[in-house]
Amino acid sequence: MLETKEKVMSALEKTLLSDDERESMTANPARQDEAFLKGAYAYLSTTALTARYSVISGIIEEHNCDRILDIGCYTGGLRASLNRHRAYHGIDISAHAILEAQKSYSHIEHTRFTVGDVRTVRFPEESFACVVWAGIGFGYSQADNQSFIDLFDKACEFCSENGILIFECIEGYSWIQTHIERVSKILNVLQVTYPLATVHNKRTLFISRKI
Ligand SMILES: C[S@@+](CC[C@H](N)C(=O)[O-])C[C@H]1O[C@@H](n2cnc3c(N)ncnc32)[C@H](O)[C@@H]1O
Repeated sequence: MLETKEKVMSALEKTLLSDDERESMTANPARQDEAFLKGAYAYLSTTALTARYSVISGIIEEHNCDRILDIGCYTGGLRASLNRHRAYHGIDISAHAILEAQKSYSHIEHTRFTVGDVRTVRFPEESFACVVWAGIGFGYSQADNQSFIDLFDKACEFCSENGILIFECIEGYSWIQTHIERVSKILNVLQVTYPLATVHNKRTLFISRKI
């Protein structure tokens, strides 16, 4: 009973975040775990937006990528939408998001979740046929443009030769196309609207090949 009440309370608290409070947390790389705990990213877990993972999964199927790196994987929702035979590694800077992801999806074979900061993490002995970076925002950056640009090089560095990069952002960030074109050849651009999502419901998806 108590547990149910706490769950209701936390759901209520999460809905009480104003847009400004949410944005100030999610845009700050140092506040990502706090953002997770206070429910600033809870909007991503509504069915109106989890359909995004199926869209990304469909692209991965089309390109038949066997090893996937998911940058900023949050609670691992993409793993649930992927073909189980494809190896998946999710990283996120939020230790609590990773704990949640491990609880939900670690039982799936070929699945790994690690706490990591994309700005500093390295995979010296492995590369990935597909690198997904979805929900791109300044939360990933050092809060200055130079570091944000550098992250496209990082995503490319993780990708194997001829591998596929999937970048997804809210419509207002579509200017990232110039960064993507610097490191890869764009294969497709999808504008996807999730009409029932209350937050960030218009998304642009860039699919590109490492050059
Ligand atoms: C907008 S959410 C996107 C989650 C998921 N990729 C999706 O599209 O549903 C951003 C996620 O990136 C994580 N994140 C932010 N900065 C990061 C960094 N520097 N390194 C790794 N993960 C980071 C956050 O903790 C958060 O879970």
